[in-house]
Amino acid sequence: MTTAQIFNLQGKVALVTGASSGLGARFAEVLAENGASVVLVARRAERLAALRAQIEKSGGKAIAVEADVRDRRAMANAFDAAEKNFGTVTILVNNAGVAHAGRAVELAEEEWRRILATNLDAVFFCAQEAARRMLAAKSGGSIVNIASVLGFGVDKGVIAYATAKAGVIQLTKALALELAFKGIRVNAIAPGWIVTELNRDYLQTERGAAIKREIPIGRFGEERDLDGPLLLLASDAGRFVTGATIVADGGQMVALRG
Ligand SMILES: NC(=O)c1ccc[n+]([C@@H]2O[C@H](COP(=O)([O-])OP(=O)(O)OC[C@H]3O[C@@H](n4cnc5c(N)ncnc54)[C@H](OP(=O)(O)O)[C@@H]3O)[C@@H](O)[C@H]2O)c1
Repeated sequence: MTTAQIFNLQGKVALVTGASSGLGARFAEVLAENGASVVLVARRAERLAALRAQIEKSGGKAIAVEADVRDRRAMANAFDAAEKNFGTVTILVNNAGVAHAGRAVELAEEEWRRILATNLDAVFFCAQEAARRMLAAKSGGSIVNIASVLGFGVDKGVIAYATAKAGVIQLTKALALELAFKGIRVNAIAPGWIVTELNRDYLQTERGAAIKREIPIGRFGEERDLDGPLLLLASDAGRFVTGATIVADGGQMVALRG
């Protein structure tokens, strides 16, 4: 095996949540391009269908399953569909997420609960579902959780999001510890500012220009900037890496700390 081949995902089955746009869509493309069969999960079915068609056109394998990550039964169905079509899910990318803006004292209870339910609770329950099935199949596997630099540092107006992402980083370590001896690795990626639908308009404002000046690499991230970290954690290239969170932020956190 050459060193390039350690990133090969032939024979792996990957389930990507939030695959209908942004980073999740890109993650699904990258996994398929490197040989994995991919299960695309999100609520916007038409977007998933378009991505499935695109992956198949490029010679990859994919199915689309419309599901809300907060709905445990719907997610169990997604794992069932994966098994029926391709086999046990051996790579889970827990990517679905929602952002919010609003000061802590004004944050409504339902908004707090919506952000935590999607960005933290669902990450745990999807990982639990995946791990139970990997254990039953004795397949081993890799779980990749998408956190954020806001899981380490904070900003004003993002209390629920930052709290959830900090939880994702701790959850990653705790799960990694419990599952390592069974051959299941659990890691996270903490992106900085990556231009996607989530933030495109915001990053074009004056505040966006100010943020850009704080990024040592001198630009916002692009979706493809996470291809390498994802492939490392998903593939055998990362076989001795577990419980880790890879920060991919153009140096922003280092600058803030310095
Ligand atoms: N972009 C950044 O700068 C950045 C930085 C740090 C971390 N992140 C994290 O990266 C992840 C992806 O973000 P993005 O920038 O790609 O945002 P995005 O383009 O808005 O994508 C979010 C994805 O999550 C899905 N989603 C949201 N709620 C869901 C639910 N209840 N059930 C199923 N799917 C759901 C959406 O699909 P549907 O609406 O179709 O369900 C969509 O596919 C998130 O976890 C985000 O917090 C992003």
